[in-house]
Amino acid sequence: MRLGSALLVLLILGFAELRKARPGGGRGRGRGRGRGRGRAGTVKRFAADCKEYFEDGQKHLDCQDRQLTAVTMGWPEDTVHLLLARNKIQVLRDNSFSQFRKLKSLDLQQNDISMIEEGAFNGLSHLTTLLLQHNRLQVLTEEVFLPLPRLSYLRIYDNPWSCHCHLDSLVRHLQVPSNRNLGNYAKCAEPANLRGQKLKKMKPELLCPELQENILKEPEDIPQGPIMAKKHPDYITTCRTYMFPKPFLDCRNQDLKNVPADLPSDIVKMDLSKNNIKHLRPKEFVSVKDLKFLNLSSNNLDRIDTAAFAGLLYLRELDLSNNSLRYFQYGVLEHLYFIRKLALGDNPWICDYNIHYLIYWLKHHTSVEYSGLVCSSPPEFSGWLVEDYVKTYNADCPKDILLGQTDPAQELNAETEEQEKEVLPRPLTGPKKFEIIRLS
Ligand SMILES: *[C@@H]1O[C@H](CO)[C@@H](O)[C@H](O)[C@H]1NC(C)=O
Ligand SMILES: *[C@@H]1O[C@H](CO)[C@@H](O)[C@H](O)[C@H]1NC(C)=O
Repeated sequence: MRLGSALLVLLILGFAELRKARPGGGRGRGRGRGRGRGRAGTVKRFAADCKEYFEDGQKHLDCQDRQLTAVTMGWPEDTVHLLLARNKIQVLRDNSFSQFRKLKSLDLQQNDISMIEEGAFNGLSHLTTLLLQHNRLQVLTEEVFLPLPRLSYLRIYDNPWSCHCHLDSLVRHLQVPSNRNLGNYAKCAEPANLRGQKLKKMKPELLCPELQENILKEPEDIPQGPIMAKKHPDYITTCRTYMFPKPFLDCRNQDLKNVPADLPSDIVKMDLSKNNIKHLRPKEFVSVKDLKFLNLSSNNLDRIDTAAFAGLLYLRELDLSNNSLRYFQYGVLEHLYFIRKLALGDNPWICDYNIHYLIYWLKHHTSVEYSGLVCSSPPEFSGWLVEDYVKTYNADCPKDILLGQTDPAQELNAETEEQEKEVLPRPLTGPKKFEIIRLS
């Protein structure tokens, strides 16, 4: 077995070298030239309706969610990132991807893959990332990975691994200390006595009890680097992670009551919609500094603490629609320097003095596109746009009284303070038309 593997490596490497050395070998057919030069600018569509685009100068081919059962002929051979998540692929045949000689990442998660032939990844000598989580793999041998000398990131969790003898070479391969990012979180589904054991950590000799007498010098302790010793973060069990085109954590519809702890720091997009997160506590998102898109819609959210969005410096889009928000506490939005889009619809906004903070803030941040800001109460303003309510409030407010007041708006943004004095509403001191609740 060992000798066989070694021979196979030599064969494959030799083969790859030969191909490389051939002049013009591994090039595309030249039809990719001059197209889509910009980043993500040009999108070209292929058979099966795949989308081709460039990001950071690298060609991505997005064939996700397309009911595909196999790789189709005619896809651009100079693809660097191939996205095939959520299709219906069951078997990966030998040489399935060998035309994509520049491939660096291959996303095959959430298919129905139950079998991978030994030469399936032949030719992928540049591949660094392979995603096979959420499939139906029970068995895989180390040989499958031999054509992938640069593989440094492998996801195979959420597959029903059958922990018997035939998994021995894979388990040993994953446990080599330098392979620390290969196969984390993958667990045995059977036999019953090994169910739940992590492939990374289990004793390989348990796989083959019948052969135990032949195994003489197995290391007693499996290396436990800091990564492996870490507790399983809870987002792993409830959320799905996608690496391409952007690191995306999909935690939709999981009945979550809280934002998952220990979020991975490289996430750019996170979907927490359709959960049951009623309260956002301070600093729940501080670890996800790169987050640009956050979806919190349909959560019954009715309370957002002032520092809840602390750390989300780069957040661009925030969806808070279909919640139970009535107003924003003073300061809640101050952390969102780069926000561009705020979805606020389907919330029971109360049009009283508490809502003014939100309107001040929006006036100071004219680049922010927002939607759905409609009063639901009190009855006299129900159905009004919140801006209109605030304007009415202003119009009724005599100017000389305005200037004497201190107001939260003054603290918001020193630069525009002067001009804002004319625009912003002030609480009334004369005969009260509406009830005024002061912010503390
Ligand atoms: C947020 O999630 C909801 C429900 O899953 C979806 O309808 C909505 O389009 C999402 N918002 C954005 C901005 O993608
Ligand atoms: C709004 O949220 C509720 C539960 O919070 C959900 O049942 C409903 O489907 C959501 N509506 C939309 C349009 O998403």
